[in-house]
Amino acid sequence: MDRLKLLIDTDPGVDDALAILMAHAYADVLALNIAAGNVGLGHTVQNALKLVETIGARTPVFAGCAAPLIAGADDAAFVHGADGFGDTGYTPSACRAADEHAVQALLRLSHAHAGRLVLVAIAPLTNLALALTLDPSLPQRVARLVIMGGAVTGRGNTHRVPAEFNIGFDPEAAHVVFSTWPHFTLVDWEATMRHGIAFETMERWLTVDDPRARFYAAISRKTREWTRMRGRPRLMVADALAMAVALHPDIVVDAQDHHVAIELSGALTRGATVVDWEDRFGKPANARIVLTVDHARFETLVAAALGTAVG
Ligand code: BDR
Ligand code: CA
Repeated sequence: MDRLKLLIDTDPGVDDALAILMAHAYADVLALNIAAGNVGLGHTVQNALKLVETIGARTPVFAGCAAPLIAGADDAAFVHGADGFGDTGYTPSACRAADEHAVQALLRLSHAHAGRLVLVAIAPLTNLALALTLDPSLPQRVARLVIMGGAVTGRGNTHRVPAEFNIGFDPEAAHVVFSTWPHFTLVDWEATMRHGIAFETMERWLTVDDPRARFYAAISRKTREWTRMRGRPRLMVADALAMAVALHPDIVVDAQDHHVAIELSGALTRGATVVDWEDRFGKPANARIVLTVDHARFETLVAAALGTAVG
């Protein structure tokens, strides 16, 4: 069977890195399209280039939007480190980002791989919103869109309590995507919390003699410490969970289809994902909300991407 053709829109980011490692283990990665989010675009582009070099891949890296569509937003450097990769002081990659803008690259690749392209969005949705605005026919050429974003019952992970980071960073972009993309798969923060990975398990995988495990051990050290200090019982790997769903849709055990909209104006709720759980508004479902996946299989995929055979 042909390998999946993936395009990843990402803001690396420690959990982005894990997702990108997984993608390269199981699919053809056509491009890494980079957004600002976890940290500024300069760092997220450099991090993507370094990761591609570490994997020994030739995946092109396209720089995208450096800021949200409208309003400024706080980054997540307190989780991912000031450079987004745990401040390890790594030697920068010798490679450079491609000259083409990420949005143009997405539109071009959507034509070249029409009907087969799987798009995985694990960053704020700025690039995707811009692409959709330039070319509203984009969804017709994309086989599947998987978005990591939102907090479907309001337990987010930002200072605006119900908002999750990717949506809260650029709510207008999320609104453009959620209100125009006909149907996508949504992997939210609350599913992420249900599918955390025990620290001891992750630390065991990170001792394996593999360049990917060594690199991930280094860049994730600060995030692991920070997560433990916060009293969280497990390591949250949001983007890796979304990637598992993109790579293996049959890993999903429980999901529901509903209409999801983005709150743009609430003083306490801007960036919230509002789910019409009882389908009261009669609007067609735009999202398949992933509730649970086969957790053992998820762990196997993550471990293998780090160089460990499980099972
Ligand atoms: C999402 O926000 C970012 O900090 C992570 O990389 C992930 O994409 C989780 O809320
Ligand atoms: Ca991310």
